Amino acid sequence: MIVVTGATGNIGRHLVGQLLAEGATVRAISREPAAANLPDGVEVVKADLSDPTTIGSAFSGAEAVYLNLAASGVQGGAAPVVKAVAEAGVKRIVLNSSSSVTYKGAEEGMIARAHAFAEKTVRDAGVEWTFVRGGMYAANALQWAASIKADGVVRGPFPDAVAAPVHEADLAAVTARALLDGAHAGTSPTVTGPAAVTLAEQVAAIGKAIGREITFETVSPEAAVEALATDRFPKDAAQQLVDFLGFTVGSTPEITDEVERITGKPARTFEQWAADHADDFR
Ligand SMILES: NC(=O)c1ccc[n+]([C@@H]2O[C@H](COP(=O)([O-])OP(=O)(O)OC[C@H]3O[C@@H](n4cnc5c(N)ncnc54)[C@H](OP(=O)(O)O)[C@@H]3O)[C@@H](O)[C@H]2O)c1
Repeated sequence: MIVVTGATGNIGRHLVGQLLAEGATVRAISREPAAANLPDGVEVVKADLSDPTTIGSAFSGAEAVYLNLAASGVQGGAAPVVKAVAEAGVKRIVLNSSSSVTYKGAEEGMIARAHAFAEKTVRDAGVEWTFVRGGMYAANALQWAASIKADGVVRGPFPDAVAAPVHEADLAAVTARALLDGAHAGTSPTVTGPAAVTLAEQVAAIGKAIGREITFETVSPEAAVEALATDRFPKDAAQQLVDFLGFTVGSTPEITDEVERITGKPARTFEQWAADHADDFR
């Protein structure tokens, strides 16, 4: 049996479907099982990973666990969750991590630091592990859905910021292989999309997918930080993210072939992602 945390999230939903298709038995963790809307046959267990007292027997009987610590917040919080997994006698953890841990000076960034801490915690837990280090998620573009729907405009500081955005279905497919095979134990694949795409090109691809022209309106970095910061995403982290976007302008993003190597299928393009998500922008 495989336990999937973040099962109702971007990667988790695909992962649950892919594991079921491979014949695995899946237990999903959610804070709100009644609203989880997961396929029949999935056991949905209520737990809040930010509150270790609610974890109970959520990991009992599992052979492998997918840990997406999005729930634990930027400041870490990995330790009690990893402890609960190890104490349940789980053989293998596949951790949702981030390519940011590999960047020069990573220890100065809050996001990279939180992921590096989670990796260390898992490494020290005495359980087999794989770290799936995702590059920039294509799904970040969902943050534009409201303004595209409202007035066909995307506001951001750097239209020429560039990345190799990765489709959540590909992150899920890599994760599924690591959970099922154990062949990737002790490895940390950096998982990216197949091509460099600027933010302006992403916006154009979404426009094409929905058959509507979208304008990119440049705003100041300060305004972008204000717009990004939330209770769960502190202003410092938002600032670092905006600084990072500015830093990528004119750079060449890392592009790996890990999706194809691990899953046997080429990584999905951003155009594919935009077509898959067209309804989110209409
Ligand atoms: N965005 C990027 O470019 C990028 C790149 C690399 C790595 N990452 C990392 O990926 C993670 C975020 O992934 P995402 O944005 O795709 O998020 P996501 O998985 O869509 O996050 C939402 C999921 O987290 C679960 N969740 C939230 N709080 C929870 C809690 N307290 N207890 C249990 N479950 C909880 C939700 O479940 P319920 O609502 O059902 O409880 C839902 O399934 C972060 O760690 C981020 O650093 C992001």
